[in-house]
Amino acid sequence: MSERTIALVTGANKGIGYEIAAGLGALGWSVGVGARDDRRRETAVEKLRAAGVDAFGVPLDVTDDASATAAARLIEERAGRLDVLVNNAAITGGMPQEPTRVDPATIRTVVETNVIGVIRVTNAMLPMLRRSASPRIVNMSSSVGSLTRQSEAAGELTVGPVAAAYSPSKTFLNAVTLQYVRELSGTNILINVACPGYVATDLNGFRGVRTPEQGAAIAVKLATLPDDGPTGQFFEDAGVVPW
Ligand SMILES: NC(=O)c1ccc[n+]([C@@H]2O[C@H](COP(=O)([O-])OP(=O)(O)OC[C@H]3O[C@@H](n4cnc5c(N)ncnc54)[C@H](OP(=O)(O)O)[C@@H]3O)[C@@H](O)[C@H]2O)c1
Repeated sequence: MSERTIALVTGANKGIGYEIAAGLGALGWSVGVGARDDRRRETAVEKLRAAGVDAFGVPLDVTDDASATAAARLIEERAGRLDVLVNNAAITGGMPQEPTRVDPATIRTVVETNVIGVIRVTNAMLPMLRRSASPRIVNMSSSVGSLTRQSEAAGELTVGPVAAAYSPSKTFLNAVTLQYVRELSGTNILINVACPGYVATDLNGFRGVRTPEQGAAIAVKLATLPDDGPTGQFFEDAGVVPW
C-alpha cells in the first residue's frame, strides 16, 4: 500500500489528460493512467515513468460499465484507495454538428462518453474516494458548455463552432456535476469543473492555441485544492467561468 496521494486521470494516454497525469506525477503522486487502448496506455505509462512519474496503467473505457468496475478493482488492489479523480476523457463526435442537421446518433454517442461516462466512472470510484482524507473530483468541461458564453456568442461564433452534441454535452456535464455537489455536500469531497482553454490536441485537429501542459494546469490546481478550497464551481486559468 502506498502512502502517496493516489490519482486516476481518464483519457490520460494523450493530450491534456497525459499532461494532467504528468503534472500530478511531478508532485510525487501515484497516477493511474486511464486509457482504453492497451498500446496507447502502455506507451503513455512508459513515457511518464521515464520522466520519473509513479504511473500505472488502468484499462478504462468510460462507456463500459464492466470496464469502470474493473478499473476500480484494479486501483483498490494496487493502491488500496483513491484520493483524486480527474474525469478528462471526452469526444466531440466530429464536426459539423449543426442542430438542424445533426444525426441523433452523434448526440447519443457524445453524451454516452462525455456525461454518462463521467457518472459511470465517478460512481465506480466513489467508495474509494469516500475513504480518502482529502478527496477531489475534477470534471474536465469546456467554456463551450457555458450557457452564458454561448448566448453571448450568438451570431459571432466566438465560443467554438455551433455544435448540437459536444457543447451541450459539456453543459449537461456541468449540470450533473452540480447535482453531485448537492448530494455530497456535507462530505469532504471537493468537486469542481475545469475549462482548459483552446488547446492544440487531436480533439480539434491541433488548431488550439494553448499547449496541453497549459491546458492541464487548471485541472492540476483543482486536484490539489486545500481542504477549505471551493466546491461546485467552474474554473479556467483566468478565474470563474459563468455557468
Ligand atoms: N482541446 C481543447 O481545446 C479543449 C477545450 C475545452 C475542453 N477540452 C476538454 O479537455 C479534455 C481533454 O481533451 P483533449 O483536447 O486532450 O482531447 P484528446 O487529445 O482527443 O484526448 C481525449 C482523451 O479521451 C480519451 N477517450 C475518448 N473516449 C474515451 C472512452 N470511451 N474511454 C476512455 N477514454 C476515452 C481518448 O482516448 P483515445 O486515444 O483512446 O481516443 C484520449 O485519451 C476533454 O474533456 C475535452 O472536452 C479540450
